[in-house]
Amino acid sequence: MRLKFPSLPKKPNPSQNSSPLSLMTTLANEGTSPQDVGHNLSSQIERAWAHWNKLGRPKLIVAPMVDNSELPFRMLCRKFGAEAAYTPMLHSRIFTESDKYRAEEFTTCQEDRPLFVQFCANDPDILLEAAKRVEPYCDYVDINFGCPQRIARRGYYGAFLMDNLPLVKSLVEKLSSNLKVPVSCKIRIFPDLQKTIDYAKMLEEAGCALLAVHGRTRDEKDGKKFRANWDAIKAVKNAVRIPVLANGNIRHMDDVHECLKETGVEGVLSAETLLDNPALFAGYCTSEWVSDEDNKEAGNLDQADLVVEYLKLCEKYPVPWRMIRSHVHKMLGEWFRIHPSVREDLNAQSKLTFEFLYDIVKRLRELDVKMPLFVKKTSQDRSLTNGVAA
Ligand SMILES: Cc1cc2nc3c(=O)[nH]c(=O)nc-3n(C[C@H](O)[C@H](O)[C@H](O)COP(=O)(O)O)c2cc1C
Repeated sequence: MRLKFPSLPKKPNPSQNSSPLSLMTTLANEGTSPQDVGHNLSSQIERAWAHWNKLGRPKLIVAPMVDNSELPFRMLCRKFGAEAAYTPMLHSRIFTESDKYRAEEFTTCQEDRPLFVQFCANDPDILLEAAKRVEPYCDYVDINFGCPQRIARRGYYGAFLMDNLPLVKSLVEKLSSNLKVPVSCKIRIFPDLQKTIDYAKMLEEAGCALLAVHGRTRDEKDGKKFRANWDAIKAVKNAVRIPVLANGNIRHMDDVHECLKETGVEGVLSAETLLDNPALFAGYCTSEWVSDEDNKEAGNLDQADLVVEYLKLCEKYPVPWRMIRSHVHKMLGEWFRIHPSVREDLNAQSKLTFEFLYDIVKRLRELDVKMPLFVKKTSQDRSLTNGVAA
């Protein structure tokens, strides 16, 4: 879908666009009493919950992934149980400056809801300008306070803003005071639990209406090496009153159930595992997560089926080839390990076509690779998934 981005006045006027969630901040700035601030925080929190309820309280959510949580992939995950999704992180300044960037990096469609559109930013005015352009198309504008990569250090955004909490606060306040849709934040934890809790509370007071907590610190970059700290997520959940989502260690539906139970959060995000297995939230898992004792059965689905579904979605919703290439590699990684020559052919193809990619799947099938996804039968799976697998 070609989006019509609203054109903006040069200097947005906060008072014209004031959202309900902005009330607390605005009044606080006008010197109201602590009781008033408390009252307004309460009504802000009520509105945050009303919004969450209106969206149907999604529990199973596709995490933001640069170059990987683009529209066709989100739609694939939604088809297989995901109840909401984040866009990849968009760079707020480039988003405001470049038509090409906007057209290539942010596409959506009517069925792509509930949707979080995520930005990185370090300038409240620029962030607001970018956010205004997407607010008609999403349910939350999300701010990335979690990216720990070198590029984020250089660009001064993501988890590096944990060193500048006044700036974090001003970014959240700017959006919550001026947008019609609520603002959400995705954070990492500090090594110190109390600092993490204070951080979360500050975000809530600044107008954040939903908080996704990745239970790893900024230095714990490698998700495979460091387990996410669910205790810290639980402590945040207990300390704030807005909806909270947990992120980290979600590899199959047993993890989903355990995480919801242990932390008490409203929902979970998954990233890396979904790239291998976009049908995770429909109850499917790869063989590495099933043991002989599990009450399991081979599902009537495998990763090659998912690639075909994904390619069809890419034909319908075009995206840059680099994203398609990356997904084919991730979903068929295990298959390529058995037949590396097929991977080499894919790597050698500098210009991709759908015909070539469908043919890759056909060749693997003809080579007789058999790697089904598995379904573990539990009563919880049946109650949580949207019915695709259950
Ligand atoms: C390929 C990839 C791209 C990512 N891009 C983003 C991003 O754009 N924004 C963000 O907040 N986190 C990003 N992340 C981090 C994930 O959203 C998530 O926080 C992290 O991978 C931990 O979740 P997991 O244990 O389920 O993988 C990315 C992760 C991966 C694997």
